[in-house]
Amino acid sequence: MKILILGSTGFIGKNLLQKLSSEYEVYTAERSSGVDIRVYEQIFNKIKDVQPDVIYNLASHGGSVHYVRNKAAEVFHDNVQMSLNLYKSIQKINPNIKIIQPFSNCSYPGKSNLQKEEEWLNGDVHPSVFSFGNSKRSIFFLSKCFQQQYGVRSVNILFPNTYGPGDSIDPNHTHALNGMVIRMLDAQERGDEEFVVWGTGSPVREWAYIDDFVNVLVRCLNLEGSEYPINMGQGKGYSIAQSAKLIKKALDYKGEIVFDTKFKDGDPMKVVDGNKFSEVFQNFSFHDHFGGILKTVEYYRSLK
Ligand SMILES: NC(=O)c1ccc[n+]([C@@H]2O[C@H](COP(=O)([O-])OP(=O)(O)OC[C@H]3O[C@@H](n4cnc5c(N)ncnc54)[C@H](OP(=O)(O)O)[C@@H]3O)[C@@H](O)[C@H]2O)c1
Repeated sequence: MKILILGSTGFIGKNLLQKLSSEYEVYTAERSSGVDIRVYEQIFNKIKDVQPDVIYNLASHGGSVHYVRNKAAEVFHDNVQMSLNLYKSIQKINPNIKIIQPFSNCSYPGKSNLQKEEEWLNGDVHPSVFSFGNSKRSIFFLSKCFQQQYGVRSVNILFPNTYGPGDSIDPNHTHALNGMVIRMLDAQERGDEEFVVWGTGSPVREWAYIDDFVNVLVRCLNLEGSEYPINMGQGKGYSIAQSAKLIKKALDYKGEIVFDTKFKDGDPMKVVDGNKFSEVFQNFSFHDHFGGILKTVEYYRSLK
């Protein structure tokens, strides 16, 4: 089986490439290797040369809440343009190529606490992620239309916020939990007596460990196609305060965790309903959260 990974230098792509390379013939495409997917000819020629059976679409323009608001037009444009070019190329070259692509659960309605698939489109995404969340919804609409007219199959999966080794160290691009690890490592290095958590620490969030994310993407090779997305997750969350305590333990940081309540909390809870996931991905075993944090700490320490 020939596999093409779009975005193999990103957080998810890097880890997936490592996992698949020993078993499959894997090719990659992103700007740093000379393919700008926003340019139709570039992605068309790449797919034509490789003739893959499966494409992992991990190419994405995203970033922090602040970033996706400031660059809203570019974020929306790039994500949609890349996908338009991808689907059009596949339709022209070989509509049997299957696409596997993750969506972020920030594309759920802003007000959803327990995120259930059947309610995914029942409300607006949170204004803070308007551009990014809606660009992912648009990719779903695109996949559905290309399936209806040309029979192109897509496996769309909704993932919670992800953490683990391999993420960027750029504060505009790091994901929330990894960001807290980096900040606490810095506090430890400076010998700070306090580590400040923004807000009350009470909001509960579900986290996907990177190896679980990648294992799910690999198992998607066995799925025929599911345009309407399935959640990846287990309906289990940790409060920000609990996560901060686990990071403190993993680092053996001696300072005290304090909460700056001048910062407004986000929604009280955001976890994904994992019922459908457990039906489709039977016997999937999730990594332990603390074990994942330990590996993340090791990774960021190794970069110091
Ligand atoms: N990380 C998470 O917490 C998370 C959670 C749920 C879902 N997801 C989804 O998983 C996917 C991958 O996320 P990620 O965290 O790995 O993203 P990332 O670290 O930002 O990586 C993005 C990748 O896309 C490539 N790319 C960006 N613009 C491109 C362009 N114009 N042409 C070609 N390649 C381009 C980048 O490489 P170049 O810069 O070299 O082009 C990079 O390899 C996204 O769709 C995201 O929504 C991620």
